Formats: sequence, C-alpha cells, structure tokens
Amino acid sequence: MSEGNNLVGVDIGTSSIKVVQLKETRRGPRLIKLGYTPLPRQTIVDGHVLNSQAVIEALERAFGEAKIKSRDIAISISGQAVIIRKITVPMMTAAELDEQIQWEAEQHIPFDIKDVHVDYEVLRRRPEAGQMDLLLVAAKREEVNDYTEIARQARLRPVVVDIDAFTVQNLFEFNRGLPPDMTFAIINVGASLASINIVSKGVSAFTRDIANGGNYITEQIQKQLGVPFEQAEEFKCAAAMGGGGVTPQVSTIIDGVCDSIAGEIQRSLDFFHATSGEAEMHRIFLTGGSSNLPQLLNAIARRARVGVELIPPLEKIAVEGKDVNAQLLQTRAGQLCVALGLSMRKDRERRL
Ligand SMILES: Nc1ncnc2c1ncn2[C@@H]1O[C@H](COP(=O)(O)OP(=O)(O)OP(=O)(O)O)[C@@H](O)[C@H]1O
Ligand SMILES: [Mg+2]
Repeated sequence: MSEGNNLVGVDIGTSSIKVVQLKETRRGPRLIKLGYTPLPRQTIVDGHVLNSQAVIEALERAFGEAKIKSRDIAISISGQAVIIRKITVPMMTAAELDEQIQWEAEQHIPFDIKDVHVDYEVLRRRPEAGQMDLLLVAAKREEVNDYTEIARQARLRPVVVDIDAFTVQNLFEFNRGLPPDMTFAIINVGASLASINIVSKGVSAFTRDIANGGNYITEQIQKQLGVPFEQAEEFKCAAAMGGGGVTPQVSTIIDGVCDSIAGEIQRSLDFFHATSGEAEMHRIFLTGGSSNLPQLLNAIARRARVGVELIPPLEKIAVEGKDVNAQLLQTRAGQLCVALGLSMRKDRERRL
C-alpha cells in the first residue's frame, strides 16, 4: 500500500451517502468510522445533482453522526459523466505518453476534449508488437467540479476523485487479488445504475454502465400496484428477506424486472466475448444495495450460466467495534464497496 494517511471514503450514490474511515495498523486496515445518510428522491438523477443543498446537508449529517473529524476525502463519480476505453498506442516512454495522451483521447472520446479530465493507466506493454494497451479514462469536468464544489460547501477537502467501478476493483484486489488466469465480472447494482467491470488477465478489460438498478424494480412495483414509492420499496425489501407476507404479485414483478436487468447485463457480457475473443467467464461477483435481492443474483446466474457470489466487503478489514454501529454495518454491507475502496486511498496520491 502507498504512503500517506487514509482519506475518508465518501460515496455519493443516488439513494444515499456512505462514508467510511479506515486506519492502517500493522495487522492491516481497521474500519473505525461508518456513516450512512439516505438522500431524498430526485436529489441526484442520472448522476446529475439536481439539489446540491440536500447533498451538502446529508454529507454534514453523515460526518456528524459517524463522528468523523478528518476532512480530507476521496470521492468517485460514475455513469454518463465517465467514459472508459481500452486503447492501443505505439510503445513510448512515460514522458512521451503524457504529451500524447490528449491527442489520443481526442480520437476516442466523443466529448470536446476541453470539457473532460483525461487520465490513463498502462494495462500491458507488448514490445514484440511495438505497442502498448492503455485504459483511457475521461470524466466530464462539469460533473467532477459539481461534486467537488458540493464537498467543499460541506467543509470537506476532496483530494482524490475516482471512478466507482475502479474503487470496487481496488477493494476486490485488496481482498482477493486479481487472479491472472481468471476472467470475471464485478457487477455493482445500486439504485439507478448497474455497472459492469470485466477483469481479465489481472486488468480491467471492459466496463459498461446500464441505466437500470434497484429504483427500476421499486418503480415497477409502484406503478403496477398503484402504491407510493416508499411502500413499494418496503415490499421489495421484504421480498428480498424471503419470509412470508409477500404477495405473489410482488414476487412476480420482482422476478420479471430482475430478469430484464439480468438480460441487459448478459448482453454486455456477450458483447465483451464477441469483441475480445475471450471465450470464458469464470465467475461473477455482485455488490451494491440491489445485491441484497436473491432474485437478482439468481436471475444473473441463470442467464450467464456461471457461479455468482456476493462480495464480502470486509474480508480482510477488521472492525473497530466501539465506534462502528454493528447493525448499520450488517444491513448496509452490500452498499459499502465503493466507500471502502475509496477509503483505502491516501492523501499523497491523486487521480484525475
Ligand atoms: N435489503 C435490501 N433489499 C433489496 N433492495 C435493497 C436492500 N437494501 C438496499 N436495496 C436497494 O439498493 C439500492 C441502493 O443501493 P446502493 O446504495 O448501492 O445504490 P446507490 O449507490 O445509492 O445508487 P447508484 O450507485 O445507482 O447511484 C436501492 O435501490 C435500494 O432499494
Ligand atoms: Mg452506488
């Protein structure tokens, strides 16, 4: 792990804000603070913040309730504001690449290059072919500025801005490593998005966001039963827990929507196989609040015909019992991967 102090991981999601603080110890990281604050509906839509004040207040509440003093944070963005492409360029030195990258980005990014932050990571050097593969990441300045400005107004200091999918991959790598002989997908299904990241030969080989998540399931229950959103949400969560009291009608709606989300995910996996020449998918790892729905996990497994398992977020992270609300940790475990991945970032690094 790199030098420096851990930043506070702040995941500003569509449904809620998750904040996490880790402390490095000789025996590895310990979770010392955890906060969770729901956001009112329509605060963030398709990744755009429509109501900044609501986000600022929720950030202040999350930090207050979790008793977090440190103000240096890592945040992340996702969805339409981010474009990730795997590209191939001629072999060159780091200095040459730094000079060339804007030009390369212009060829591959469908936004005006002046409007985006560009970053890259070298995935693979192939000297025999005189080429190297890069992961090119472009994030809209406007979106990055919106989120960092909101954080500043909540008296926080954003040091790192990352991408949701990569924070989850970082956490996964810390817990399990990225086995070079495996092709697997990490899928994060939140409230408004399902983001897919396929890791192959130890690097991210394909990413795609699907504009449907848990809200879509709730909205279908709401619409088809004619009940308020909050009630539909309760029906959904009760169905996720199994147990009695769930009407067959609710079950049927959930099964149907989960199958349609699984179908969209499968189309992305098929696209990856068709374009990459990789025939195999060894496993799928699922996270995000909607991974609490066994119906979704089963639907994905049925479509993909591979094993699907939940990511245990705290596999290698100990918990400081006295400060962390155990019930919050248990009920929200599936929603914490992004914040946890961010909380591993250090104040001496910078992304974007
Ligand atoms: N126990 C549960 N059973 C079923 N669904 C749940 C449960 N807990 C949370 N969810 C669903 O998970 C979603 C929220 O997950 P998450 O916190 O990962 O999303 P987000 O980060 O706020 O949103 P996004 O990443 O899409 O911007 C909501 O749709 C919520 O209904
Ligand atoms: Mg999320």
